[in-house]
Amino acid sequence: MSVELARALPGRYYTDEAIYRREMDAVFGRTWQYAGHVGEVAEPGDYFVFSVLGESLFCVRDGDGVVRAFYNVCRHRGHELLEGRGNRPRIVCPYHAWTYGLDGQLQRAPNSQSMSGFDVSCVRLQEVKVEVFCGFVFVNLDMQAESMEKWYPGVAEELREFVPDIDDLREAKYFEIDERCNWKVSVENHSECYHCRLNHPTFSTGVVKPETYNIRPQGHCLRHTTECVNLERMTYPVDLQANVHAGDYSTWLLWPGVSFQVYPGNLLNAYVWQPLGVDRVRIVRRWYTVGGESNEVIDRLAQQDLDTTVAEDVRLVESVQRGLNSRGYVPGPLVIDPNEGVNSEHSVEALHGWLLEALGEDRQGMDG
Ligand code: FES
Ligand SMILES: [Fe+2]
Repeated sequence: MSVELARALPGRYYTDEAIYRREMDAVFGRTWQYAGHVGEVAEPGDYFVFSVLGESLFCVRDGDGVVRAFYNVCRHRGHELLEGRGNRPRIVCPYHAWTYGLDGQLQRAPNSQSMSGFDVSCVRLQEVKVEVFCGFVFVNLDMQAESMEKWYPGVAEELREFVPDIDDLREAKYFEIDERCNWKVSVENHSECYHCRLNHPTFSTGVVKPETYNIRPQGHCLRHTTECVNLERMTYPVDLQANVHAGDYSTWLLWPGVSFQVYPGNLLNAYVWQPLGVDRVRIVRRWYTVGGESNEVIDRLAQQDLDTTVAEDVRLVESVQRGLNSRGYVPGPLVIDPNEGVNSEHSVEALHGWLLEALGEDRQGMDG
């Protein structure tokens, strides 16, 4: 009797424009997306513009101290309201000066009093859901979305344990890496370490102990855990006495496209995947330090990561995308070890489950 094996997804999930567009609505339009850091809106009136799914939005702290986010679109005839970042007591549209409070309420529309039947108090900017998560501002375009604690149970608490000064962190380094592949190829690659020993010699010998590596679903998070190499073999100095997790490495991938990674020394960095098209994705890499000051360790580690793991992964994912485009591609079995561990792809199976759940599909009838 043959056992039903979990298989990789058919190629169309990585190459078909129609599936990609469905994903943008059903996955990215309904999940938590990285917007920025709460330090960028420290005072009432502080704002910054950001984009999600190619949409311009802005985040602002209102007069009551509430952090909010809105589509960057005027309720009159659609002009964008804000650019870049700064501080404003109110939001005035540059086109015809419709004026909104920081809470999104329309206050004034020039000459609108000449029209009967128009009441400014009934007009508000289109708001999106906001959460401040360990100091990071996340948004969800779905106003009915469940909280991040429901989506990613326990993660905020774990991040605070791994990075005791997380509230004082600010961005110190920023890189963009463009990959010629579907966003899922890149996220799946990030979410298994079956390829690590062969492809990431620095990471596998200078940071983690691959034989202890594991990745487990935790709600809609994939939590990576591992033991690290001993201090002498670490590629930078770590003060192991500083706190309980000073010598630890861990990663939390928040489905679908944000990952927080902590290197020994409580060094936090983030990956944010921004799909640019069915076969294009941008990874934004951010490294954080207390106050946002750069230092030699973070400079070296960020550069080492770029030159080794990141560069190695770009080659892998672009090759996979070429393979997925081939008429010779047939989905092979995922290697699922019942004992999990570094050479198991149960984490990729979990990603596929979340994708199909969002698309309202199941695994039946998925050959080729
Ligand atoms: S489009 Fe904004 S005031 Fe006219
Ligand atoms: Fe990798």
